[in-house]
Amino acid sequence: MAVIGSTGSIGMQTLEVARAHPEDFRVLAVTANRQMHKLIDIALEFRPEFVGVRDEEQANAVRAALPYSVEIGYGVEGLITAAAWCGVDLTVNALVGAVGIQPTIVALQSGIDVALANKETLVAAGDLVWEAARAGMSRVIPIDSEHSAIMQCLLGNDLASVAKLILTASGGPFRGHSKERLRTVKVADALAHPTWKMGAKITIDSATMMNKGFEIIEAHHLFHKSYDQIDVVIHPQSVVHSLVYYHDGSMMAQLGTADMRIPIQFALYGGQKRVFAPWPTLDLGALGALHFEQPDRVTFPALDLAYACGRAGGTVPAVMNAANEVAAIAFLEERLSYDAIVDTTVRVLNAHEKVASPTLEQVLEADKWARLTAEEFIIKRGTSL
Ligand SMILES: NC(=O)c1ccc[n+]([C@@H]2O[C@H](COP(=O)([O-])OP(=O)(O)OC[C@H]3O[C@@H](n4cnc5c(N)ncnc54)[C@H](OP(=O)(O)O)[C@@H]3O)[C@@H](O)[C@H]2O)c1
Repeated sequence: MAVIGSTGSIGMQTLEVARAHPEDFRVLAVTANRQMHKLIDIALEFRPEFVGVRDEEQANAVRAALPYSVEIGYGVEGLITAAAWCGVDLTVNALVGAVGIQPTIVALQSGIDVALANKETLVAAGDLVWEAARAGMSRVIPIDSEHSAIMQCLLGNDLASVAKLILTASGGPFRGHSKERLRTVKVADALAHPTWKMGAKITIDSATMMNKGFEIIEAHHLFHKSYDQIDVVIHPQSVVHSLVYYHDGSMMAQLGTADMRIPIQFALYGGQKRVFAPWPTLDLGALGALHFEQPDRVTFPALDLAYACGRAGGTVPAVMNAANEVAAIAFLEERLSYDAIVDTTVRVLNAHEKVASPTLEQVLEADKWARLTAEEFIIKRGTSL
């Protein structure tokens, strides 16, 4: 397999799964962006044939550090080369952000299945991803725990008998907060996720609930259901990872610990095979009860924004994704307040002129425009923070 974004939270857990099953997986290509020491350690352990880095300087440093002959590439080209590396059967896309779009599309077009954690790709370019999968006769296998759960609840059942897909959401660190209280929250508060340990950007997206918004769009593309058939329920314990509600009144759920290695392993085995995993299992007796509640759509407007953008389609979800990415990073860098993240995204969306059935170039253009526009808004509002 290839692991693009190997140094991140999902990337490292993917490598843990590969390490646990050396008889089944060989890592042929890996990439990283900033964490060069981690990347070199990974290369020393897994001996990939190809390594992708950010720029030429890093490429030279990695070449000098590795005691064996390895192909090295950089930039988006490096990501694409890794994703479609010769001999790879499965590419794990563990990148964060829209940078994952092109490698996903090229891998799928080349007939390589993609185990996708990088939800931003499906949000921004869902239709193009399916076109690429059709052209390459390849599969997109979800890694996101909610979508993995839905995929598992659908096994052996007819997609036409599904009444609703129900995504569970922990509610993030600010569940129960008032809008007033959210005005003063700091980066450290937003990074303190109650149940999942993840990369910084997705943790901020969870705090705004934009992450769940993305997952609604992701579910629409993965399971070909209309937005009216996708619901969200708050489940603070993160034990039920999502559910499928069937026409006959039955609900199927998938349960497990909040451990991404479980859905990652299921995806690495093609979403079809259950292989022993050495990770801790769920203790229902200790858990006692399962809690659910309705989401607070007023305090967390990102949910309804995502429904609206998903329904609008075209370049609109790509713009929402890019503007949110810039705003979430600005918040992490303490250049924007928490409550301005979604507000910035809405302003950029209001300024956007939608392209109805975009090509890849038009999606990438909309993404670039949204980033520049979001950055302009952030700079303008800077002094009023
Ligand atoms: N973490 C989770 O539990 C979880 C659960 C479900 C879904 N997801 C989704 O999975 C994806 C990855 O999340 P994560 O939490 O693993 O993120 P992360 O820890 O921030 O890791 C991101 C990876 O992408 C690389 N990267 C970042 N920007 C890049 C760029 N511009 N060009 C090339 N590589 C770049 C990083 O490299 P460096 O580290 O070397 O800079 C790192 O390897 C996201 O889409 C997220 O929404 C994550």
